[in-house]
Amino acid sequence: LAKTAHIIDIGGGESKLAGYLLDAGFVNITVLDISGHSIEKAKKRLGSRADQIQWIAQDITEFQTDSHFDCWHDRAAFHFLTSPDDIAKYVNSTKLHVRQNGCMIIETFSENGPKTCSGLPIRQYNADSLSQVFSDGFKKLDCVLQDHETPAKRIQNFLYCSFRKI
Ligand SMILES: C[S@@+](CC[C@H](N)C(=O)[O-])C[C@H]1O[C@@H](n2cnc3c(N)ncnc32)[C@H](O)[C@@H]1O
Repeated sequence: LAKTAHIIDIGGGESKLAGYLLDAGFVNITVLDISGHSIEKAKKRLGSRADQIQWIAQDITEFQTDSHFDCWHDRAAFHFLTSPDDIAKYVNSTKLHVRQNGCMIIETFSENGPKTCSGLPIRQYNADSLSQVFSDGFKKLDCVLQDHETPAKRIQNFLYCSFRKI
């Protein structure tokens, strides 16, 4: 990706990803999260560098924007959407807002992962079911399974899938 690529981290919350992207020289970063509290924590950690990022405190199912993204990243937010209606809204948003040829990386709990996250129900996916959800408009590039160690040292099996907008 060019350093000017517009990257959005959906459910970025307290993640350090946005800071790492700044370190890597990216200049067009947006973080969206339903939790204003998590966004404030992330901003505090980044200090004055937080001003270089666009922050959106909003439910992704209500996201509306004129922007188009070269890269859409989501680790562990999409899997919180369990109703067909919410999933359809998310998918529609990716269709509208990921630029043609843009990339999308979605990371969810796998079928060997937890069944809840932060006490809330989630939807588990495998490579086929996740690719199917985004099959209208996206070409699957790759899917891998990986154990993720949480800050509390718990192991969670994640599915990482990358897609190209067609
Ligand atoms: C398990 S955390 C993952 C945080 C970060 N992506 C990471 O990998 O460290 C899930 C995040 O998704 C956010 N989230 C959950 N449902 C959401 C929704 N409907 N819209 C936007 N953000 C949501 C939560 O507030 C939380 O920050």
